[in-house]
Amino acid sequence: MSTLAKMALGAMGRLRPKPAQGDAVQRIALPAPEKAGGMPLMQAIAARHSAREFSSKQLPLPMLSNLLWAADGVNRPDGGRTAPSAINAQEIDIYVALPSGAYLYEAAANALQLVAGSDIRRVTGYQDFVDEAALDLVYVADHGRMKLVPAASRESYASVAAGAITQNVYLFAASNGLVTVIRAWIDRDAIANALGLTHDQQVLLSQTVGFPKG
Ligand SMILES: Cc1cc2nc3c(=O)[nH]c(=O)nc-3n(C[C@H](O)[C@H](O)[C@H](O)COP(=O)(O)O)c2cc1C
Repeated sequence: MSTLAKMALGAMGRLRPKPAQGDAVQRIALPAPEKAGGMPLMQAIAARHSAREFSSKQLPLPMLSNLLWAADGVNRPDGGRTAPSAINAQEIDIYVALPSGAYLYEAAANALQLVAGSDIRRVTGYQDFVDEAALDLVYVADHGRMKLVPAASRESYASVAAGAITQNVYLFAASNGLVTVIRAWIDRDAIANALGLTHDQQVLLSQTVGFPKG
């Protein structure tokens, strides 16, 4: 769908998901992430960049598992994560919009839990490439987990935590032949509706990931 059509539908509150492609599985157990190997860190940093042209080819499940683990998976026995959060509130949830449905990444269980049985990719942003790229991630802050953070600081701290996750995704992409772009130009109400979020949950950012086009 074109950016103009999305903006018009968004203004009317009618930017809606498409029917899911294939069967929406209730729960996907992810394969154990591969935590070794990859490109040397300095090379991945040297290759990091934003891209806006994506193939529609889907990521194999092991690659999706590795991507989500790199993004914000559990990397220590005490439950610590690959990205920092203020007072370790771990307030950012990652939602994964796939053609078959929208899923919540459960880091501790290393699983994806279905939250919407429709293809919400086109709802995750005004830019046209978000509709067909392999997946769009949505970063949502759960303010209910931030009670110990002063209220005035919650949104900015959560945005910093989400930013750290997005950079993990950029570096994973650079290291694995994928491309990505972080996006703030999004219709937060449309996304919240599509994901069925509560008033405690705030949509912060979205990020498209996929194989490069062509
Ligand atoms: C907070 C933030 C919001 C952004 N929002 C968008 C967006 O909505 N759409 C987009 O195409 N790029 C977006 N970008 C990506 C920037 O345009 C991109 O990082 C910048 O042009 C520098 O390019 P580089 O990432 O390749 O170095 C955003 C970046 C940041 C940090």
